[in-house]
Amino acid sequence: MNIQWYPGHMTKAKRMMQENIKLVDVIIELIDARVPISSRNPDMDKIANNKPRIVVFNKIDLADRNKTEEFIKWYEDRGISVVLVNSKNGKGINQVINKAYELCKEKIERNKKRGLINKPIRAMVAGIPNVGKSTFINKLVGKASAKTGNRPGVTKGKQWIKLKKDMELLDTPGILWPKFEDQQVGINLALIGSIKDEILNIEELALILIEYLRNNYLERLLTRYKLSDTDNLESIQILENIAKNRNLIKAGNELDLNKAAIILMDEFRNGILGKITLETVGL
Ligand code: G4P
Repeated sequence: MNIQWYPGHMTKAKRMMQENIKLVDVIIELIDARVPISSRNPDMDKIANNKPRIVVFNKIDLADRNKTEEFIKWYEDRGISVVLVNSKNGKGINQVINKAYELCKEKIERNKKRGLINKPIRAMVAGIPNVGKSTFINKLVGKASAKTGNRPGVTKGKQWIKLKKDMELLDTPGILWPKFEDQQVGINLALIGSIKDEILNIEELALILIEYLRNNYLERLLTRYKLSDTDNLESIQILENIAKNRNLIKAGNELDLNKAAIILMDEFRNGILGKITLETVGL
């Protein structure tokens, strides 16, 4: 499967990121906890330009906890602070705020010495499309906005959202781009739904997912689709069995593999198959 991902928007996104990064004290980089490597930008160290950075493992509610632990270590070994977040219910958001202050401590001290007592620290949220940036920002603003309400101010044409405790957030998140050269990255992002399904072959994608599940989460696959076993079966035969067991028949009395593929993908993406991570540290 050959996946091209937003190549046309890359240059503009890159330029905007670089401009915006100059204006902030801390970068909050969202990644998808189900694909902690594929959903980041491998050039982020360079892009961040030595600014303090927090990596937020978003959609933690959908990821495999054991694998998450390994990836936390992977990031921390590289000197990057990690916070686990569920932006849908807001879990972990307060930790992100606290971490941001911690990382900006020196700057706050410096400001104090210069008489700038309440100078807010400035943050921006960045991440690839669909990683949850808007959901995260809404929760952050909901939890941390000043009691007086939001008073967006205009600085150099940028909109800032005032949060309580002297913090401001750039109201437009930075769009990052994944590593295009690597096909596996494209496949992983397609599996989690970050690439529009219209441009993908959903059946092909479902077969890739079946292969991954049988090797990593076999019990879930067997239980959910009432399969007796998958030994000696090709993944297409497993998809056929899913269609059979779900009684997915189309005109002409044929198995509706397309429908089976859509159901499998939806159930995986919505966590109905349980918490699943598609990557493994070191692989
Ligand atoms: P973006 O700005 O980075 O493009 O992402 P956005 O916030 O639009 O979120 C993309 C999808 O991810 C949304 O689902 C959103 O609800 C979901 N999402 C964001 N954070 C989390 C999280 O921590 N956990 C889970 N489970 N989902 C999360 P959607 O299907 O596009 O819309 P809807 O389901 O909210 O209607």
